[in-house]
Amino acid sequence: MPEYLAPKPTLPQLPRLITSLPGPRARALIDRDLAVMSPSYTRGYPLVASRGEGCAIEDVDGNVFLDMTAGIAVTSTGHAHPQVVEAIQAQSARLIHMSGTDFYYEPAIELAEKLAALAPFPQKEDGTKARVFFTNSGAESLEAALKLARYYTKRSLVVAFLGAFHGRTYGAMSLTGSKIVQRQGFGPLVPGVTHIPYGTHASLDYLEKELLATILPPQEVAAIFVEPIQGEGGYKVPEDGFLERVRQICNRHGILMVVDEVQSGMGRTGKLFAIEHWGVMPDIVTVAKGIASGLPLGAMLARSELMTWPPGSHATTFGGNPVACAAANVTLRLLETELMANATKMGELLFSGLTQLAHKFDRVSLPRGQGLMVAIDLYDAQGNLDRDFRDLIVDRAFYRGLLLLGCGKAAIRFCPALVIDSQQIQVALDILSESISSLT
Ligand SMILES: Cc1ncc(COP(=O)(O)O)c(C=O)c1O
Repeated sequence: MPEYLAPKPTLPQLPRLITSLPGPRARALIDRDLAVMSPSYTRGYPLVASRGEGCAIEDVDGNVFLDMTAGIAVTSTGHAHPQVVEAIQAQSARLIHMSGTDFYYEPAIELAEKLAALAPFPQKEDGTKARVFFTNSGAESLEAALKLARYYTKRSLVVAFLGAFHGRTYGAMSLTGSKIVQRQGFGPLVPGVTHIPYGTHASLDYLEKELLATILPPQEVAAIFVEPIQGEGGYKVPEDGFLERVRQICNRHGILMVVDEVQSGMGRTGKLFAIEHWGVMPDIVTVAKGIASGLPLGAMLARSELMTWPPGSHATTFGGNPVACAAANVTLRLLETELMANATKMGELLFSGLTQLAHKFDRVSLPRGQGLMVAIDLYDAQGNLDRDFRDLIVDRAFYRGLLLLGCGKAAIRFCPALVIDSQQIQVALDILSESISSLT
């Protein structure tokens, strides 16, 4: 029997390091990677993943790590959830691809029905609420939203926020306001995007009193793109009333409110869509990442009356692939039955543990976020945000068996799988605390 088919014992769900890091197999693979892969990737520490289970990742040398990243907020039901694996296996044995652009198949229809029913839009009298366009990624969901917003409104301008990350294709990149390296050398971008600071009433004052009164004719603005909690920008939570006010501005001028839930959505914050915490109803919602527990799938949900575009105006060969949709159907069921509730419960534990850490270490901020979308900032001795210190902590944690990711200027984000338990949260906090202690 080939080695990869031999049954393996289940992974321990806590770190178990058996070689120095990176181990010999990891080192050899990294050398091969360096010779052929695009240098544009941003690998922080030398993890070469081989197997995943729940919140555990085993590397190619048999070291087991506790994963607080979920592959950048993607494996919502944990790595290789048995029910997701079963659905993928069954669907791939039946039909792997047929293209939803030209043909019909049930897993996509079932998923669209569920998403349309759960979309955070008002129910119309005829019972309809939303229509769904499937994509392969977050960026593609944003492309679809940008195109639909322009098509439906017949307006060309859009507003987005500094610090926002919406993806790296041209439309999504033009909406992104995150880092110079993501733009430099790639211009010209899609015209018509104006960025304003995120999350504050002062910024919305500027939009209303200055921009919409001088250089942005409101009747030419198609949409405002906003993350309910800014993801790559630092897990920033907006000021109270901010999202409500974005809605009001949109209402006043016939502008569409597009909420990017690619990172915050699919149950991570304890509700299916983070915007539900504010009771604000957008016009368009974009999702991806956690929707299919790791298979590439995204979606753009719009109020049904907005989808006026005709056949052929927008489509994709792979979007809404049957195997990815089968994984997403099970993912949604798991989120609704148990995992969103677990995200709320474990999020509270994590938040209180990080609060204690902030009291213990001067150079650690209080946590911010919602559910299992939580971050802390790291400071230097003078109280300035300290990216190098953050990177060192993330590095030290790796060598202790804990996988973390940065975000924003100097933040560490915690976005584990929604199956995480209290013991794993405690171990993550302990390793984080040891890693910080070793540097202060
Ligand atoms: C809020 C948000 N939108 C869009 C994207 C882009 O998603 P993808 O990398 O799947 O294209 C991301 C990715 O991090 C994101 O966090």
